[in-house]
Amino acid sequence: MSTSQDPGRGAQLRLSSVGRDFGANTVLRGVDLQVPAGQFVAIIGRSGCGKSTLLRLLAHLDQPTRGRISLGAGEAAGGTRLMFQEPRLLPWARVIGNVEVGVSDANLPASRRERALGLLVEVGLAGREDDWPGVLSGGQRQRVALARALASRPQLLLLDEPLGALDALTRIEMQRLIERLWLDQGFTAVLVTHDVSEALTLADRVVLIDRGEIALDVRVDLPRPRRRDNPELGALEEQILDYLLDGANKDQAPAAA
Ligand SMILES: Nc1ncnc2c1ncn2[C@@H]1O[C@H](COP(=O)(O)OP(=O)(O)OP(=O)(O)O)[C@@H](O)[C@H]1O
Ligand SMILES: [Mg+2]
Repeated sequence: MSTSQDPGRGAQLRLSSVGRDFGANTVLRGVDLQVPAGQFVAIIGRSGCGKSTLLRLLAHLDQPTRGRISLGAGEAAGGTRLMFQEPRLLPWARVIGNVEVGVSDANLPASRRERALGLLVEVGLAGREDDWPGVLSGGQRQRVALARALASRPQLLLLDEPLGALDALTRIEMQRLIERLWLDQGFTAVLVTHDVSEALTLADRVVLIDRGEIALDVRVDLPRPRRRDNPELGALEEQILDYLLDGANKDQAPAAA
Protein backbone atom coordinates (compact mmCIF):
# COMPACT_ATOMS: atom_id res chain seq x y z
CA MET A 1 0.00 0.00 0.00
CA SER A 2 1.21 3.46 -0.85
CA THR A 3 1.88 5.89 1.94
CA SER A 4 1.93 8.88 -0.34
CA GLN A 5 -0.93 11.14 0.49
CA ASP A 6 -2.16 14.52 -0.61
CA PRO A 7 -1.78 16.59 2.54
CA GLY A 8 -3.35 19.62 0.86
CA ARG A 9 -6.88 18.24 1.25
CA GLY A 10 -6.95 17.83 4.98
CA ALA A 11 -7.98 20.31 7.64
CA GLN A 12 -5.43 21.61 10.07
CA LEU A 13 -6.62 21.63 13.67
CA ARG A 14 -5.48 23.89 16.44
CA LEU A 15 -6.89 23.59 19.94
CA SER A 16 -5.64 26.03 22.56
CA SER A 17 -6.52 25.44 26.22
CA VAL A 18 -9.91 24.02 25.26
CA GLY A 19 -12.19 23.33 28.21
CA ARG A 20 -15.78 22.14 28.53
CA ASP A 21 -17.83 22.16 31.71
CA PHE A 22 -21.30 20.71 32.14
CA GLY A 23 -22.53 22.59 35.19
CA ALA A 24 -20.07 21.82 37.98
CA ASN A 25 -18.61 18.90 36.02
CA THR A 26 -15.39 19.91 34.30
CA VAL A 27 -15.02 17.30 31.58
CA LEU A 28 -12.25 18.90 29.54
CA ARG A 29 -9.84 21.00 31.56
CA GLY A 30 -7.38 22.39 29.07
CA VAL A 31 -6.71 20.55 25.84
CA ASP A 32 -3.86 21.77 23.65
CA LEU A 33 -3.53 19.96 20.36
CA GLN A 34 -2.17 20.77 16.95
CA VAL A 35 -2.96 18.42 14.11
CA PRO A 36 -1.30 18.98 10.75
CA ALA A 37 -3.32 18.59 7.54
CA GLY A 38 -3.90 14.97 6.61
CA GLN A 39 -2.80 13.44 9.89
CA PHE A 40 -4.63 10.41 11.33
CA VAL A 41 -5.12 10.90 15.07
CA ALA A 42 -6.66 8.36 17.43
CA ILE A 43 -8.18 9.50 20.71
CA ILE A 44 -8.37 6.99 23.51
CA GLY A 45 -9.20 7.14 27.20
CA ARG A 46 -11.46 5.65 29.81
CA SER A 47 -15.21 5.71 29.36
CA GLY A 48 -16.56 9.12 30.30
CA CYS A 49 -13.22 10.93 29.97
CA GLY A 50 -14.61 13.31 27.35
CA LYS A 51 -13.72 11.78 23.98
CA SER A 52 -17.14 12.28 22.40
CA THR A 53 -17.34 15.72 23.97
CA LEU A 54 -14.09 16.63 22.25
CA LEU A 55 -15.33 15.31 18.91
CA ARG A 56 -18.56 17.29 19.23
CA LEU A 57 -16.50 20.42 19.81
CA LEU A 58 -14.42 19.68 16.70
CA ALA A 59 -17.64 19.21 14.72
CA HIS A 60 -18.98 22.56 16.01
CA LEU A 61 -21.96 20.70 17.46
CA ASP A 62 -21.00 22.15 20.83
CA GLN A 63 -19.01 25.16 22.01
CA PRO A 64 -16.06 25.11 24.41
CA THR A 65 -16.49 26.75 27.79
CA ARG A 66 -12.92 28.01 27.52
CA GLY A 67 -10.19 28.17 24.93
CA ARG A 68 -10.15 28.24 21.14
CA ILE A 69 -10.55 25.76 18.31
CA SER A 70 -9.56 26.62 14.77
CA LEU A 71 -9.89 24.36 11.78
CA GLY A 72 -7.63 25.67 9.02
CA ALA A 73 -8.85 24.47 5.62
CA GLY A 74 -11.67 22.45 7.15
CA GLU A 75 -14.15 25.28 6.89
CA ALA A 76 -14.04 25.06 3.09
CA ALA A 77 -16.42 23.21 0.78
CA GLY A 78 -16.43 19.62 2.02
CA GLY A 79 -16.08 20.67 5.66
CA THR A 80 -16.34 18.25 8.52
CA ARG A 81 -18.22 14.95 8.67
CA LEU A 82 -18.94 12.82 11.68
CA MET A 83 -19.47 9.07 11.79
CA PHE A 84 -20.89 7.26 14.82
CA GLN A 85 -21.09 3.76 16.21
CA GLU A 86 -24.58 3.41 14.76
CA PRO A 87 -24.86 4.04 11.02
CA ARG A 88 -27.90 6.34 11.43
CA LEU A 89 -29.19 5.63 7.92
CA LEU A 90 -32.54 6.89 6.69
CA PRO A 91 -34.75 3.76 6.72
CA TRP A 92 -37.12 5.13 4.10
CA ALA A 93 -34.36 5.80 1.57
CA ARG A 94 -32.54 3.18 -0.46
CA VAL A 95 -28.78 2.76 -0.14
CA ILE A 96 -28.10 5.14 -3.03
CA GLY A 97 -30.38 7.78 -1.50
CA ASN A 98 -28.58 7.50 1.80
CA VAL A 99 -25.26 8.23 0.12
CA GLU A 100 -26.66 11.00 -2.09
CA VAL A 101 -27.77 13.02 0.93
CA GLY A 102 -24.11 13.35 1.82
CA VAL A 103 -23.26 15.10 -1.44
CA SER A 104 -23.42 18.65 -0.21
CA ASP A 105 -22.40 20.68 -3.25
CA ALA A 106 -25.01 21.94 -5.66
CA ASN A 107 -24.49 19.14 -8.18
CA LEU A 108 -27.06 18.06 -10.75
CA PRO A 109 -29.01 14.97 -9.63
CA ALA A 110 -27.30 12.87 -12.32
CA SER A 111 -23.80 13.72 -11.13
CA ARG A 112 -24.87 13.30 -7.52
CA ARG A 113 -25.99 9.80 -8.35
CA GLU A 114 -22.80 9.12 -10.23
CA ARG A 115 -20.70 10.24 -7.31
CA ALA A 116 -22.76 8.18 -4.87
CA LEU A 117 -22.42 5.09 -7.09
CA GLY A 118 -18.65 5.62 -7.26
CA LEU A 119 -18.47 5.76 -3.49
CA LEU A 120 -20.48 2.56 -3.15
CA VAL A 121 -17.90 0.87 -5.36
CA GLU A 122 -15.14 2.33 -3.16
CA VAL A 123 -16.67 0.87 -0.01
CA GLY A 124 -17.29 -2.53 -1.60
CA LEU A 125 -21.04 -2.22 -2.11
CA ALA A 126 -21.26 -2.16 -5.91
CA GLY A 127 -24.67 -3.39 -7.03
CA ARG A 128 -26.37 -2.76 -3.67
CA GLU A 129 -27.57 0.75 -4.51
CA ASP A 130 -31.26 -0.17 -4.72
CA ASP A 131 -31.37 -2.16 -1.49
CA TRP A 132 -33.09 -0.86 1.62
CA PRO A 133 -30.85 -0.30 4.66
CA GLY A 134 -32.93 -2.88 6.55
CA VAL A 135 -31.64 -5.78 4.46
CA LEU A 136 -27.95 -4.94 4.99
CA SER A 137 -25.66 -6.41 7.64
CA GLY A 138 -24.24 -4.17 10.36
CA GLY A 139 -20.90 -3.95 8.55
CA GLN A 140 -22.58 -3.10 5.26
CA ARG A 141 -24.61 -0.37 6.93
CA GLN A 142 -21.42 1.14 8.31
CA ARG A 143 -19.96 1.05 4.80
CA VAL A 144 -22.96 3.05 3.58
CA ALA A 145 -22.46 5.50 6.46
CA LEU A 146 -18.79 5.83 5.48
CA ALA A 147 -19.70 6.44 1.82
CA ARG A 148 -22.21 9.10 2.92
CA ALA A 149 -19.61 10.76 5.17
CA LEU A 150 -17.10 10.90 2.32
CA ALA A 151 -19.61 12.05 -0.31
CA SER A 152 -18.93 15.71 0.40
CA ARG A 153 -15.14 15.20 0.12
CA PRO A 154 -14.62 16.34 3.72
CA GLN A 155 -11.36 17.84 4.90
CA LEU A 156 -11.98 16.49 8.36
CA LEU A 157 -13.52 13.12 9.16
CA LEU A 158 -14.47 12.56 12.79
CA LEU A 159 -15.11 8.95 13.78
CA ASP A 160 -16.72 8.18 17.14
CA GLU A 161 -16.27 4.45 17.77
CA PRO A 162 -17.49 3.70 14.24
CA LEU A 163 -16.48 0.04 14.42
CA GLY A 164 -17.46 -0.61 18.03
CA ALA A 165 -20.52 -2.71 17.22
CA LEU A 166 -18.92 -4.89 14.55
CA ASP A 167 -17.56 -8.41 14.84
CA ALA A 168 -13.77 -8.84 14.87
CA LEU A 169 -13.33 -9.80 11.22
CA THR A 170 -15.65 -7.11 9.85
CA ARG A 171 -13.85 -4.67 12.08
CA ILE A 172 -10.47 -5.49 10.55
CA GLU A 173 -11.93 -5.19 7.04
CA MET A 174 -13.40 -1.80 7.91
CA GLN A 175 -10.11 -0.62 9.40
CA ARG A 176 -8.38 -1.47 6.14
CA LEU A 177 -11.08 0.30 4.17
CA ILE A 178 -10.84 3.44 6.29
CA GLU A 179 -7.04 3.43 5.97
CA ARG A 180 -7.20 3.02 2.18
CA LEU A 181 -9.75 5.82 1.75
CA TRP A 182 -7.76 8.09 4.06
CA LEU A 183 -4.58 7.43 2.04
CA ASP A 184 -6.42 8.04 -1.24
CA GLN A 185 -8.32 11.16 -0.21
CA GLY A 186 -5.98 12.91 2.18
CA PHE A 187 -8.54 14.12 4.72
CA THR A 188 -7.56 14.66 8.33
CA ALA A 189 -8.99 11.88 10.49
CA VAL A 190 -9.79 11.89 14.20
CA LEU A 191 -10.84 8.46 15.42
CA VAL A 192 -12.22 7.85 18.90
CA THR A 193 -11.81 4.22 19.88
CA HIS A 194 -11.72 2.02 22.97
CA ASP A 195 -9.48 -0.38 21.14
CA VAL A 196 -5.80 0.49 21.67
CA SER A 197 -4.73 -1.99 19.02
CA GLU A 198 -7.09 -0.38 16.50
CA ALA A 199 -5.69 3.04 17.39
CA LEU A 200 -2.13 1.84 16.84
CA THR A 201 -3.00 0.04 13.60
CA LEU A 202 -4.54 3.10 12.01
CA ALA A 203 -3.18 6.28 13.53
CA ASP A 204 -0.07 8.39 13.00
CA ARG A 205 -0.52 9.47 16.55
CA VAL A 206 -2.41 8.24 19.59
CA VAL A 207 -3.67 10.81 22.07
CA LEU A 208 -4.83 9.66 25.49
CA ILE A 209 -7.21 11.85 27.48
CA ASP A 210 -7.15 11.55 31.24
CA ARG A 211 -8.68 13.88 33.82
CA GLY A 212 -9.67 16.39 31.19
CA GLU A 213 -6.25 16.74 29.64
CA ILE A 214 -3.98 15.09 27.13
CA ALA A 215 -1.97 12.72 29.27
CA LEU A 216 -0.08 10.97 26.47
CA ASP A 217 0.64 11.90 22.88
CA VAL A 218 2.34 8.96 21.21
CA ARG A 219 3.72 9.09 17.70
CA VAL A 220 3.27 5.84 15.74
CA ASP A 221 5.97 6.01 13.12
CA LEU A 222 5.57 2.58 11.55
CA PRO A 223 5.04 1.66 7.89
CA ARG A 224 1.57 0.83 6.59
CA PRO A 225 -0.28 -1.42 6.35
CA ARG A 226 0.64 -2.42 9.89
CA ARG A 227 0.54 -5.99 10.93
CA ARG A 228 -1.02 -6.79 14.26
CA ASP A 229 1.88 -9.07 15.12
CA ASN A 230 4.42 -6.26 14.67
CA PRO A 231 6.47 -6.36 17.91
CA GLU A 232 6.87 -2.58 17.97
CA LEU A 233 3.09 -2.18 17.91
CA GLY A 234 2.81 -4.76 20.67
CA ALA A 235 5.29 -2.87 22.85
CA LEU A 236 3.46 0.44 22.34
CA GLU A 237 0.14 -1.23 23.09
CA GLU A 238 1.48 -2.67 26.31
CA GLN A 239 2.79 0.71 27.46
CA ILE A 240 -0.51 2.45 26.74
CA LEU A 241 -2.56 -0.29 28.40
CA ASP A 242 -0.29 -0.12 31.44
CA TYR A 243 -1.02 3.57 31.65
CA LEU A 244 -4.76 3.06 31.29
CA LEU A 245 -4.90 0.24 33.81
CA ASP A 246 -2.50 1.70 36.34
CA GLY A 247 -2.47 5.49 36.38
CA ALA A 248 0.02 5.42 39.26
CA ASN A 249 2.80 4.40 36.87
CA LYS A 250 2.52 7.54 34.81
CA ASP A 251 6.20 8.28 35.13
CA GLN A 252 7.01 5.15 33.15
CA ALA A 253 4.56 5.94 30.37
CA PRO A 254 5.81 6.35 26.81
CA ALA A 255 7.38 9.68 25.98
CA ALA A 256 5.17 12.40 24.61
CA ALA A 257 5.47 13.00 20.88
N1 LIG B 1 -24.80 17.32 27.19
C1 LIG B 1 -24.27 16.93 28.35
N2 LIG B 1 -24.76 17.37 29.51
C2 LIG B 1 -24.20 17.01 30.69
N3 LIG B 1 -23.15 16.20 30.80
C3 LIG B 1 -22.61 15.73 29.67
C4 LIG B 1 -23.13 16.07 28.38
N4 LIG B 1 -22.38 15.46 27.44
C5 LIG B 1 -21.44 14.76 28.10
N5 LIG B 1 -21.57 14.94 29.44
C6 LIG B 1 -20.70 14.34 30.46
O1 LIG B 1 -19.36 14.50 30.06
C7 LIG B 1 -18.59 13.38 30.44
C8 LIG B 1 -17.86 12.85 29.23
O2 LIG B 1 -18.78 12.32 28.30
P1 LIG B 1 -18.33 11.78 26.89
O3 LIG B 1 -19.56 11.29 26.21
O4 LIG B 1 -17.54 12.81 26.20
O5 LIG B 1 -17.37 10.58 27.32
P2 LIG B 1 -16.61 9.52 26.41
O6 LIG B 1 -15.17 9.63 26.71
O7 LIG B 1 -17.03 9.68 25.00
O8 LIG B 1 -17.16 8.14 27.00
P3 LIG B 1 -17.46 6.76 26.27
O9 LIG B 1 -16.13 6.13 26.03
O10 LIG B 1 -18.25 6.00 27.28
O11 LIG B 1 -18.21 7.03 25.02
C9 LIG B 1 -19.55 12.39 31.07
O12 LIG B 1 -19.44 12.51 32.47
C10 LIG B 1 -20.90 12.86 30.59
O13 LIG B 1 -21.90 12.57 31.51
MG1 LIG C 1 -18.13 8.50 23.66
